[in-house]
Amino acid sequence: MKVIETIAEMRQQVTLARKTGQTVGFVPTMGFLHEGHLSLIEAAREKHDLVVVSIFVNPLQFGPNEDLERYPRDFERDERLAKQAGTDIIFYPSVQEMYPEAMPMTIHVIKGVDVLCGASRPGHFDGVATVVMKLFQIIQPDKAFFGQKDAQQIAVIMNMVSAFNLPVQVIARPTIREEDGLAKSSRNVYLSEQERQEASFLYETLQIGAEIIKSGEKNRDRVLDQMKARLDKGSGQLDYLTILSFPSLNETKTLTGSIIIAIAYFYQNARLIDNYIIEA
Ligand code: PAF
Repeated sequence: MKVIETIAEMRQQVTLARKTGQTVGFVPTMGFLHEGHLSLIEAAREKHDLVVVSIFVNPLQFGPNEDLERYPRDFERDERLAKQAGTDIIFYPSVQEMYPEAMPMTIHVIKGVDVLCGASRPGHFDGVATVVMKLFQIIQPDKAFFGQKDAQQIAVIMNMVSAFNLPVQVIARPTIREEDGLAKSSRNVYLSEQERQEASFLYETLQIGAEIIKSGEKNRDRVLDQMKARLDKGSGQLDYLTILSFPSLNETKTLTGSIIIAIAYFYQNARLIDNYIIEA
């Protein structure tokens, strides 16, 4: 496995791979890899000759009071895990390499960002779309693999690929969970012991919401009320709880078709997100 820190060398490697007819699978990450990332790398490994994983904590997608400085980082551990999962190249650029000067232009996402995390993290998806566009240009993958936990991110990236006719296929893979159901996330390390024990109630609440809908309840407000009553018992604070059509992310009073039930919840030092997608 190679670690590449410059855009020029990364491009050289991709050009070489393309010349010999290899396909490229890409997993973009911000590092501090967990099993969710590893399952994406394994999925890429199954389908592609060359598997590239990027590790880059992208300053553009963090708001002024967010956790950019303290975002967990451990490159040696990431290197070991990425290698075990079948990575060929880790692309590990510095901020200086990716943004040698203030960006003269960025992508501004218009659709699908006034709800969910887009509403509570203004500008976040502009930063995500901008860095993913850059990474796609540098790595030129055939397929890029993303986790379902960040469902809104997937919707934004799919829209970007379609809007700019990018020659890459976006693959969404299921959320990987701890034994008690908590979605794996690099930010879970911020939880206190007590918060960690409690946090599985987020997924349980999503499952309960899904069960209520499956049992025939189509009224959005009634489902949300029952779920909210449960979340109110937690020691943290609810950021949002919502049900929207998926992937269009529209709000409808009556639940039909493909829908996403989504939660964002604040603990002392971590904001956790999770979701459940079902047919109503
Ligand atoms: O999901 C993430 O880790 C990041 O948002 C991504 C896609 C790597 C862009 O920085």
